[in-house]
Formats: sequence, structure tokens, C-alpha cells
Amino acid sequence: MVKVIFRKEGAEDRIVEGDTGTSIMEVALANDIGEILADCGGALSCATCHVYVPAEWGGKLDHKSAEEEAMLEMAIDPDERSRLSCQIPLNAELDGLEIILPQSQL
Ligand code: FES
Repeated sequence: MVKVIFRKEGAEDRIVEGDTGTSIMEVALANDIGEILADCGGALSCATCHVYVPAEWGGKLDHKSAEEEAMLEMAIDPDERSRLSCQIPLNAELDGLEIILPQSQL
């Protein structure tokens, strides 16, 4: 299992675990992280699974695909840390990964 820490300004950290190969979006849904809506179910067509990945972790992730980059333009308040959580599969190297949740997805 890989530990993931979901953070949101003004809220307590939520520390959960997920299986290797599972996406951050799937881990969020399985653990009632309500800020992740994931309307399209991971089909890369909604941007409601938007999260921010701190720079110290961002370097450990695979690069964004052109499709992810394009869909992120639909997210609310994207910045250089922005990722779509359905596009980030867990692996052992990501144990302890910090995910910053956006204030809103809509
Ligand atoms: Fe829709 Fe990630 S769940 S783009």
C-alpha cells in the first residue's frame, strides 16, 4: 500500500492508502475525499479531478500528456503544480505523496 496525504487549506490532513497502480482519483473516491468529483470516471474529459502536486513531488511523476495539458485548461485556478488525479497512478516511489486539494472544482 502507498500512503497519500490529502491537504486542503483550513482543513485537517486526510491520510489514506491505496494500491500500486491505482490512480490518485480512485484512491480519493474510495476514501470519500469529496473535493475530487471525477465526473468522467477517469476518461480524461472533465477536469473535476484537478489537484495540485507540490514541486518536491511533481518531479517524481510522469510528465503530463498533451491531452492532460489541454484538459487542465478547463480546471478552476490551475497553476504550474496542477495535475489531473486520474492520470497519476500510485507506485512505491510515491509513498507519502502530498496532494493539495483545490477550493473548488466547479
Ligand atoms: Fe475526469 Fe480525471 S476524472 S479528467
